[in-house]
Amino acid sequence: MKKLFIKTYGCQMNVYDSARMAELLAPIGYGPTDVAEEADMVILNTCHIREKAAEKVYSELGRLKKIKDARPLTIAVAGCVAQAEGEEIVARAPQVDIVVGPQSYHRLPEMIAKIARSGGHALETDFPALEKFDVLPKENSATGVTAFLTVQEGCDKFCTFCVVPYTRGAEYSRPVAQIEDEVRRLVARGVREITLLGQNVNAYCGEGPDGKMWSLARLLGRLSRIVGRLRYTTSHPRDMGDDLIAAHGDIEALMPYLHLPVQSGSDTILGAMNRQHTADDYRRLAGRIRAARPDIALSSDFIVGFPGESDKDFEATLQLVRDVGYAGAFSFKYSPRPGTPAAAARKHIPSDVKDARLQTLNTLLLEQQEAFKQGCIGRTMDVLFEKPGRQAGQAVGRSPYLQSVHVEGASQLIGTQQRVRIDGVYPNSLKGSLVREKALAH
Ligand code: SAH
Ligand code: SF4
Ligand code: F3S
Repeated sequence: MKKLFIKTYGCQMNVYDSARMAELLAPIGYGPTDVAEEADMVILNTCHIREKAAEKVYSELGRLKKIKDARPLTIAVAGCVAQAEGEEIVARAPQVDIVVGPQSYHRLPEMIAKIARSGGHALETDFPALEKFDVLPKENSATGVTAFLTVQEGCDKFCTFCVVPYTRGAEYSRPVAQIEDEVRRLVARGVREITLLGQNVNAYCGEGPDGKMWSLARLLGRLSRIVGRLRYTTSHPRDMGDDLIAAHGDIEALMPYLHLPVQSGSDTILGAMNRQHTADDYRRLAGRIRAARPDIALSSDFIVGFPGESDKDFEATLQLVRDVGYAGAFSFKYSPRPGTPAAAARKHIPSDVKDARLQTLNTLLLEQQEAFKQGCIGRTMDVLFEKPGRQAGQAVGRSPYLQSVHVEGASQLIGTQQRVRIDGVYPNSLKGSLVREKALAH
C-alpha cells in the first residue's frame, strides 16, 4: 500500500473534494497518512481567494522539495491555485508532477498512470463538471456524525474582487436523485447532520425526479425526510428566494443558523463590488428570514479596504453590523487578485488603513459574538453529540448554532441528538447538561 498525504486549504468545498480524492485513489493502492514525511504522494488542495492563501502553497512546495530530493515522491497541486496558475506552477516549482483543477480531479488516476509510464508532468484544468460526479466513486468514506456534501459548483455572479468564477467555472447543480443517493449512503454510515455546499448554494437549480428543475428549498424538503439535521452554505443575498425563506420556518431539520455574506454596508461599495443589492435590501432580507424563523442566528463575511472605500463607507458597514446583529463573522482585508476587475482599480486603500478598519470591525463583531454566546446561557437546545470529551464520561456535541457543547455523562450518546440546557461558557465552547433523553428519529 502506498501512502497519500492530502493538505487542504480554503473553503469547505475543498474539504469535500479532498475526501473524494482520497476515495478515488484508494482503489489504485493509496491509503491515507497524516505525515507528509512518510508519504509516496502529496496532494496540496489549494485556495486562491486571497494572496496569502495562494502564497502558502509555494512555501509548502519548498518544504516538499527537500523530501523529494532525498527519495521518490509524487507531488500534485489541486484546487483553485492549480486552476488559476496552471503551467506557471510547474515553471515556478519544477518539483510538481501533477496540476489538476477543482473540476477535473476525477482524472487523477489516469494522470498518475501517465507520469508513471512516460515521466514528465501532467496538467488538467478543464471544467467537465457533469462528468466529475459521474466518475467519482459512489462509496463514501465518511466516519463522523457530520458531513459536507457539494450540491452546486461554480459561480456566475462575478463580484469584482473574487476569483471563484474563474477557478471553479460556471454554476452547475447536481441532479436531486444523485444527491439523495449520496445522502442515503452517508446516513447509512452514521452521519446525522449534512451541510449542503456550493459557492452559491442557494442558487441551486437541479433536475428533480419529476424532470423539472428543483430549488434548494425543495431539495432541503426532500432530504429532511432522510437525515435529521441539515445546513447549507454559502448563500448570496440575491438568491434567498421566498420558498427558501419559508423553508426556515417549515423544515424542522434545517438548523437555525445561516451564513449570509454581505461584504459591505455601503451602497457605493456594494455597487462597485457588483453585489447587485443595497444595504437596505439586506436589512429587509434579514428581517424576513427572522420573521420566518425567530430563533435564527446569522453570520457573514466582510471585506474592509475595498478600492475606493471611504471612512463614510466603512462607517456604513459598522452601522449595518449594529443593525443586523451577528452570531459570528469572518472579516478580511481586501486582497487584489490577478485578473479580477477590482484589482485594476485606481484608488487602492493603504495597508495601515485596512489594518485599522479590520481591527475596529473585529472588535464590534467579537462583542456581538460574545453577547450571542452569553445569551445562550439558560436556553435549551438540540445538541448532536459528535465525539468523546477530554474527561471521562464527557461528550462534545454541536449546537444548532455550530457551537461546541461539552456535556458530562453523555459519552454513551455519541451519534444522537439530545435536549441540552446551556449552563455556562468556555472560551471557545459552551457547557451544558442533559435535559432528558430523546434519540434522533433517523
Ligand atoms: N460565494 C461566497 C463567498 C466565497 S469566498 C459568497 O458569495 O459569499 C469567501 C469570502 O472570501 C467572501 O465572502 C469574501 O468575504 C472573501 N473574499 C473573496 N475574495 C476576496 C478578496 N479578493 N480579498 C479579500 N477577501 C475576499
Ligand atoms: Fe465570489 Fe461573489 Fe461568486 Fe461569492 S458570489 S463566489 S464572492 S463571485
Ligand atoms: Fe478558495 Fe477556491 Fe474555495 S479559491 S475559498 S478553495 S472555491
